[in-house]
Amino acid sequence: MKKEFPSNFLWGASSSAYQVEGAAFEDGKKASQQDVINQGSYEQFGFATAEIASDQYHHFKEDVALMKEMGFTCYRFSIAWSRIFPDGVGEVNPLGVKYYHDLIDELKKHGIEPIVTMYHYDCPWALVEKYGGWLNRQIVEDFTAYAKFIINEYKDDVRIWTTINEQSIIVQYWTQKCWIPEEYLDGTHDQMRYQINHYMNLCHAIACNLVHELVPGGIVGSAIGYSSIYPLTGKPEDVMAMQNAQALRNDYYTDIYFKGIYNKAAFTYLEEHGLAPVIEPGDMELIASHTSDFLALNYYASECAKACPEDSGLSIRWSGVNRSGKKGDIDGFETHPGFYQMCRNPELDTTDWDWAIDPIGLEYLLRDLYNRYNKPLMITENGLGAYDTLSEDGKVHDDYRIDYLREHIRAMKRAMDKGVEMIAYCPWSAVDLLSTSNGVKKRYGLIYIDRTDDDPKECARIRKDSFYWYQKVLASNGAELD
Ligand code: BG6
Repeated sequence: MKKEFPSNFLWGASSSAYQVEGAAFEDGKKASQQDVINQGSYEQFGFATAEIASDQYHHFKEDVALMKEMGFTCYRFSIAWSRIFPDGVGEVNPLGVKYYHDLIDELKKHGIEPIVTMYHYDCPWALVEKYGGWLNRQIVEDFTAYAKFIINEYKDDVRIWTTINEQSIIVQYWTQKCWIPEEYLDGTHDQMRYQINHYMNLCHAIACNLVHELVPGGIVGSAIGYSSIYPLTGKPEDVMAMQNAQALRNDYYTDIYFKGIYNKAAFTYLEEHGLAPVIEPGDMELIASHTSDFLALNYYASECAKACPEDSGLSIRWSGVNRSGKKGDIDGFETHPGFYQMCRNPELDTTDWDWAIDPIGLEYLLRDLYNRYNKPLMITENGLGAYDTLSEDGKVHDDYRIDYLREHIRAMKRAMDKGVEMIAYCPWSAVDLLSTSNGVKKRYGLIYIDRTDDDPKECARIRKDSFYWYQKVLASNGAELD
């Protein structure tokens, strides 16, 4: 007989500030780098900007009521740094501070526990203009001041904190997640990817220490973009490539969070290729001084790796993107000659954006991570990006999303039945929002937002079929998945 979900297991969903809030320049908020990056994506690809997004800033009460109707017991969202400190440092914006108090109060009034992410890709633009944002070590000091402020401000109401969203993905897709100047894009500045990540490791450690110091009973961890990685074949060379990819794409981050060290194989590879971060005296001691209480995982798809000999004639390249939403249009795969090359997994179907659909990949990584680090885990993102249609009956029949979520919950449960300790499940996303790479036409929400990339309309909220399905799942504490 399989065990039930624990009675204190948290069910909810996720979002991030710039992808959902809108009000990008309202009530004292100034631009973040995402306002600027998304303006560029609008001009280049016609994707919506972050100016209105899903307009949660003006609809948060309605959204929280819908979350309550679904039965949420938690909601994971991020705080926009530039809403709190419009210039990144210095003057606090009281209306920005008030917004998050109002949101948190509304959640708590409905019995929904806030899970707060401190940083989700949206560095204040003022800091980019001042010194390059994450390209400059000064960011560590400014992030510390911001983190200290928000932790102190919200500590009475927020117990669960995540620090920086998806450091691993920021390294891979740095131009989407950070403002990177044109002259850095010729391949000769790629060491900065890992330098930024090093600054983020310092920020993560400082933020963890602050939560432990300031929040009574508070728990904190990183939210990482993490994929299980398979070898393309059983050939020893491919299996070795899989281990190398695992080291550089995954262990390089989790070893910092739980062992306070850089993974040796990955760091050696980076050093050999001039990509390793510059580490100043005291940095590793600071990193080792922190403890993460849990690891939050954003899992969408598994990955596949194959051997890539040093003399393959290929050069280093980073992860590809599919901008069109037509299967197969991905513009390339991450390549590290002499270490590994990522590739399509012929065993798995994909989304329209070429993300491999693989619930077993979730089960695999939960068991692997729990066995290696022995810390509780939570899912802070998991979901299916799809073209949804508002049907003539006024409904959204997203059975494909229900299938996806059902199988991933089952996979998580199988891992739990084998002893993995899980805190929460928060799929991406509560309401439809602005994708980081594909505008608003690629939808993830349980709640449909009636807008297009070109026309924000009124951003009306419409319950999808997945809304009603998830409601039943939550009412039965995960027992009723069919
Ligand atoms: C995660 C991010 O990488 O994936 C989210 O934390 C993002 O911000 C999500 O939206 C889905 O990716 P995308 O590119 O489809 O928005």
